[in-house]
Amino acid sequence: MNNFIFENATKVFFGKGCVKEYLACLTEGYGNVVMLAYGGGSIKKNGVYEEVTKILKAAGKTIVEFPDIMANPTYEKVLDGARLARENKAGLILGVGGGSVMDCCKAISLAARYEGDVWNEFWTKPGVIDFEPLPLGVIVTVAGTGSECNGGAVITNEILKTKTGRDYPKCNPKFALLDPVYTYSVPNKQMVSGSFDILSHIMEIYFSAPDENNVSDDIAEALMRNVIRNLRIAIQNPEDYTARSNLMWDATMAENRIIKLGKQTDFECHQMEHQLGAYTDCNHGAGLAVLHPVYYRHICEAGKTKFARFATEVWGITETGKSQLELAKAGVEALADFIKEIGLPTTLRELGVDESTDLKVIAKSCNIVPGSYKKMTHEEILEIFKECF
Ligand code: NZQ
Ligand code: ZN
Repeated sequence: MNNFIFENATKVFFGKGCVKEYLACLTEGYGNVVMLAYGGGSIKKNGVYEEVTKILKAAGKTIVEFPDIMANPTYEKVLDGARLARENKAGLILGVGGGSVMDCCKAISLAARYEGDVWNEFWTKPGVIDFEPLPLGVIVTVAGTGSECNGGAVITNEILKTKTGRDYPKCNPKFALLDPVYTYSVPNKQMVSGSFDILSHIMEIYFSAPDENNVSDDIAEALMRNVIRNLRIAIQNPEDYTARSNLMWDATMAENRIIKLGKQTDFECHQMEHQLGAYTDCNHGAGLAVLHPVYYRHICEAGKTKFARFATEVWGITETGKSQLELAKAGVEALADFIKEIGLPTTLRELGVDESTDLKVIAKSCNIVPGSYKKMTHEEILEIFKECF
């Protein structure tokens, strides 16, 4: 194992009824004003808004609402939220939603307590947070990003056409409430794309050095099998509590830094998807589903030992009669078949990317990260995009 330091400052409350049981006492100690941040209104339809506001009012809190956080949150929205938090002297941000709400809130918590330009200081380059961000608590309503247990905030700068994120431990939420029942109302399409995002996070970590015997890879394989099994069940029965609760915890486990320990990690596919998102505003998990098999066909030979292990340990493919490379390729094709089976898009066209989109410009804007089995170039990323069409 490589050396590492591990800390995760977020306290997690998991399970049916956890919001009712713990929210009021968790908001103690942060003053009277709570900024309640949420997305486009799903929480008003499924009863979560009512439940949360009732608890906050009974606890004597003044609620300042910050609604309409969009999927792929923008820097402009972050600045609006920071302004509102400052004007109302909020002592706590309570983000209720998915990755977009949580990420936007983390960025707001920095911007509300920082005088300078947070984009320049903390997103374009790694910054030093030598101050206390405005405290944040989250209530997760859709499983996927795992943002509840890390300091990552992926923000889109619309002017610069850049979507990027960094994980600052100081931005970890103080607490995260995860009630799997809250995810019952997530539309099938979003449940599936969120679940694929979970799988993608695990794969981006698993397919990277070191590849010798290590606990992170063993946990990763168990998590991948768990996501696949429970997603199949949740598609059949969206209100299967066991499946929903497994998926919810899989999402957290994939991104709470535990399986990253000692691993280099790849995340090149995420870099590509983020830029695709910056230019087309596509759904994150669906974008990853289109890119992953094609990217893996490009790097499979370079990482054939690990892809062969993926084939046997995750997909149960038998080795008999296959060379290592054939086995590795069979693993990638099993992943592609699974994407079809769960109904995610398999081409950029199906994702809604327009024929006229300049893929070359997007490819050129992608970060090249060092963890891939095969070092990407902007030319190869363009080839991948073209093959995805
Ligand atoms: O906006 P509302 O009306 O709430 O509807 C949302 C949204 O339309 C809906 N939804 C959420 N909970 C629901 C529900 N609908 C019905 N019932 C519920 N209980 O789901 C839709 C998608 O929500 P969103 O938050 O955008 O999805 P997700 O959780 O996939 O987050 C995606 C964002 O997170 C970033 C992505 O890039 C993207 O911007 N990521 C954040 C990461 C992190 N911080 O660690 C890592 C990821 O790799 C990712 O990049
Ligand atoms: Zn992701």
